[in-house]
Amino acid sequence: MKQGHTYQDSQAPIIERIRDLLGRMTLVEKIGQMVQISKDGIQPGEVKQYFIGSVLSAGGGFPADNTPTGWLAMVNGFQAEALETRLGIPLLYGVDAVHGHGNMVGATIFPHQIGLGASRNPDLVRRIGEATAREILATGIHWNFAPVVVSAQDIRWGRTYETYSEDICIASELATAYMLGLQSLPQDFEPAPGQTIYTLATPKHFLGDGGTEWGTSTTGDYQLDQGDRTIGEADVRSLFLPPYQQAVSQGALSIMPSYSSLNGIKMHANSYWLTDVLKGELGFPGLIISDLNAVQQLSDDCYEAVVTAVNAGMDMLMISLDFKGLLNQMRRAVEKEDIPPARVDDAVRRILHVKFALGLFDRPFGDPGLQEAIGSDAHRQLAREAVRESLVLLKNEAETLPISRDLGLLYVAGAKADSTGSQSGGWTVTWQGTNASLQPGTTILEGIRALAGPDTTVEYQPSGEFKGIADVGIVVVGENPYAEGVGDREDLGLSHADIQLIEGMREHSKRLVAILLSGRPMIITDQVPLADAWVAAWLPGTEGGGVADALFGDYPFTGRLAYAWPRSMDQVPRNDGDEALYPLGYGLP
Ligand code: GLC
Repeated sequence: MKQGHTYQDSQAPIIERIRDLLGRMTLVEKIGQMVQISKDGIQPGEVKQYFIGSVLSAGGGFPADNTPTGWLAMVNGFQAEALETRLGIPLLYGVDAVHGHGNMVGATIFPHQIGLGASRNPDLVRRIGEATAREILATGIHWNFAPVVVSAQDIRWGRTYETYSEDICIASELATAYMLGLQSLPQDFEPAPGQTIYTLATPKHFLGDGGTEWGTSTTGDYQLDQGDRTIGEADVRSLFLPPYQQAVSQGALSIMPSYSSLNGIKMHANSYWLTDVLKGELGFPGLIISDLNAVQQLSDDCYEAVVTAVNAGMDMLMISLDFKGLLNQMRRAVEKEDIPPARVDDAVRRILHVKFALGLFDRPFGDPGLQEAIGSDAHRQLAREAVRESLVLLKNEAETLPISRDLGLLYVAGAKADSTGSQSGGWTVTWQGTNASLQPGTTILEGIRALAGPDTTVEYQPSGEFKGIADVGIVVVGENPYAEGVGDREDLGLSHADIQLIEGMREHSKRLVAILLSGRPMIITDQVPLADAWVAAWLPGTEGGGVADALFGDYPFTGRLAYAWPRSMDQVPRNDGDEALYPLGYGLP
């Protein structure tokens, strides 16, 4: 790469660096910046050959060596190729670190957003953003496709746990705190020349992904996710726009549109909301990154899909499929001026603005010196603090909780009691997550064993098949991991097996505590009487010891429901006047 150009001058104003660089770029180089390719969809050498500006790891997109060093080697390999291109424009790598660097084994996995919503603690959420930024930067990654900023209007939605609250004010406050945690330059950090953000957050998914109507999705078996909503503009502005107004005002520099539609128009094709409102009215200065292969949903004709998306305001297209064909279509569209060259320049200018804001031109390789922060004790203590603050005590009769350390006999039942996978949910090593303990951490059972006194016998049976009667029984039930529309569910009742497990444990426990691991409120009305105490633990992540902290009274229960808890499915989605089993904001004591 030649030296001595203005764009390479660290002391030159960013705007001059962008202007100089843009003026040197060919059309092929510009279009290469406007695509983000899944790392599984690109071969060694193709970043350089096609001037690709961004690569991502989608859900489960881990390297063969799924360790921090393996991740750093993978990301650095792509970056090295980008720096070898004619102009040496650095690559921007993105990942869904939605509750920590979840795809990577050894990362600290924090509670999913619905649990953090119950904490009502923006400072805690900001600190989680800061820790997450360090763990992704340690692997050369600067871009986190998080947070989801919307509220779920129908908790049958499989992405409810990715939201903070049904209350849009709570959601906006916590989403902003998280974004600032990711983007704010740390106190002890010396930024690169012109660097204004530490890592890049991505408020998502722009407009209405949490407000679709059941049965309107046309994606596979999905019912709500990627669906449609018939709604007037005034309601869109009051229900869905506020978190983005907040995010833009607080410095958002990337935003991801929703797969979903408003009034039958796909958001990825909606120039009014993407360009007129987001970029125009709100003055959003950053880049709009499409969702994965969302552009291809716009038309069976790739050329038409690309033209529609880019002209609607898409600046970068996230794709895992035939990127070479898409590049060719985009180049052809610009040559035929179906995509105005000025639109391409606007998109590339926005992309370069973000890359300079991240200091990428001067520091392209992240911060490997942070590798010791990955899964560090400090981060795990932060996650454990978050777990404690996320717990909501729904019921506590006969002073069942806190339990004494010095019981005679304590029974623990439920396979989910001893699985970091069950307590982490989706976006954990794999896209959908798994009940297997793929992530190191502390299960709820391990937390209980660690805090129980030396004279207390702790017996564990996943099946709950005990012979005696315990002083206290603890039964862990809930949802199996899922992500996105795979989690769209018509019936939110407990499984028959879980109901039987609770009923069985009732017979073997003088006092019974039920712990629910779920991505949303579930229908437990008939089961609440069976246990003396109920704890909503949501999806706490790897640090299940935080649950034991509260069970044994080392810390109080402080969580407050971020979603009202329905009595039955008749109350899902919420109807005005519904009297919830437990209202928004509920939590004992
Ligand atoms: C997914 C999700 C989006 C995520 C992207 C990359 O389909 O909708 O939230 O950031 O693809 O994994």
